[in-house]
Amino acid sequence: MHQDNWAIKAKNQGYRSRAVYKLEELLDKTKFLKNSEIILDVGSSPGGWSQFLSINYPKKNIYAIDILEMKFIPGVDFYNVGIENIDTIKAIRKLKGHFNLVISDLAPNITGIRDVDEENTYNLNNLTIQLGHNYLNTHNGKIIIKTFQNTKLKTLRKDMSEYFKNINTFKPAASKTKSQEIYLCGEKK
Ligand SMILES: C[S@@+](CC[C@H](N)C(=O)[O-])C[C@H]1O[C@@H](n2cnc3c(N)ncnc32)[C@H](O)[C@@H]1O
Repeated sequence: MHQDNWAIKAKNQGYRSRAVYKLEELLDKTKFLKNSEIILDVGSSPGGWSQFLSINYPKKNIYAIDILEMKFIPGVDFYNVGIENIDTIKAIRKLKGHFNLVISDLAPNITGIRDVDEENTYNLNNLTIQLGHNYLNTHNGKIIIKTFQNTKLKTLRKDMSEYFKNINTFKPAASKTKSQEIYLCGEKK
């Protein structure tokens, strides 16, 4: 499908962003939703991913965080807090070790300076890996992390493999062809 058509489809279906179709494909390919009752959406605003889950899987418990505000979505427990401070959220902290799935579409503000952008992405991705390590259930925890094809990717995969196994890389059809964006998916070791 032409890239603009994903945005049109999202608008027609009442979704806040075209990103929903990336999540839909990732969940379809990984089957990560199976037995995932408690889900954490990291970098959730404007809310496409949370909205997709709340509409299609209303029985799941969805928690979401972002440094930007997110308009209310029924069934989604949103906190306007950065990943760096997630431990300050009592309701989420209480669920440490009980989350079944972490989905991260986190992206730093782009400066245009390649080295800086790569470093910022790498740091956010590593915080997400740590978060997955600390918050996911050891029996069936799974994680989806957005990152970019850059010079840090190999190191990032290695960092991820410390806590996660069966790591796969996906480039969803709704992701812009020109974009270096990819998603790493893994299961907790
Ligand atoms: C590509 S958007 C996410 C889109 C979302 N998945 C959707 O479907 O609507 C990336 C988000 O990451 C958030 N973000 C960036 N740095 C963050 C941080 N340190 N902590 C939490 N969220 C952050 C941004 O504010 C932005 O809303």
